[in-house]
Amino acid sequence: MATWSAPGKVFLFGEHAVVYGKPGIAMAIKPRVYVTVRKGRRTSEMKSAYLRECFRQMDVKGSVYIRSQLTSASGLGSSAAVTIATLSAINDEFGLSKSKEEIARAGFEIEKKVQMGLASPTDTYVSTFGGLVLVSQDSRRRLPPMNLPILIGNTGVPHNTGQMVSRVRDMMRDHPGIARPLIDAIEAITMEALHSLEDLRKVGWLMDVNHAILDALGVGHPSLTRLVVAARAAGAFGAKLTGAGGGGCMIAICPPRLKNRVAGVISACDAAATITTVDTDGARKERNG
Ligand code: PMV
Repeated sequence: MATWSAPGKVFLFGEHAVVYGKPGIAMAIKPRVYVTVRKGRRTSEMKSAYLRECFRQMDVKGSVYIRSQLTSASGLGSSAAVTIATLSAINDEFGLSKSKEEIARAGFEIEKKVQMGLASPTDTYVSTFGGLVLVSQDSRRRLPPMNLPILIGNTGVPHNTGQMVSRVRDMMRDHPGIARPLIDAIEAITMEALHSLEDLRKVGWLMDVNHAILDALGVGHPSLTRLVVAARAAGAFGAKLTGAGGGGCMIAICPPRLKNRVAGVISACDAAATITTVDTDGARKERNG
């Protein structure tokens, strides 16, 4: 029996712009998924297509038990965390000796297959390696570790990444003169953030501007606006939606002494609030039975 866990992620900056080859900054978060895999003569019935695909691609048989601290379909990368933790546990239980790079690559292929081509390697990479990651279309680079306290507010409104990506694509096609400068501005924000991650006040301001642009691109949602505005009013340095938008989660960056107050205000808006920081571990072994 082998138990492994893998973290979820948030986009700090650059979501949607990354689809057009621009850079983005993603961050592994503390909430994670725990997966226990046990060898067996046959593979037990699995509801999740991600799990079935992990066992099929690794060509092994057994059973799996999952415990998750991440809500699914909220943009926190729960399917990638399940996939990476499962592949890592299989790798350990069956002594397959796959490297982290191989696990991350296999995880991305599984996400792509299950999501019918609609997956970016960001979630699986961040979940495997942890930390802060600069992503661009075909490269991912870990940034120096730093303590970036953030608050996540989950609207509870399920989001649909494919639908949101299409919405931006339509605007790029129909109104390129408007949409392109917006995507370019997101790139400028990401690049400025990259060099200012230690200045929380500036990061907050950049989040505010990034959020306004995502709203202008049509991927906002009233439930996100409500949380973003409430977080700012409660003293956050800044706040924005994170991930695809149209529901899902927002993030806020707050002065440390105010994080409980901001979390309270988010909860008072009927949203789930999580205070977290960067997870630098990525996929890790928990215990062996
Ligand atoms: O689906 P989410 O919330 O993990 O984020 C999607 C981010 C996009 O930039 C919109 C799409 C992508 O594949 O990067």
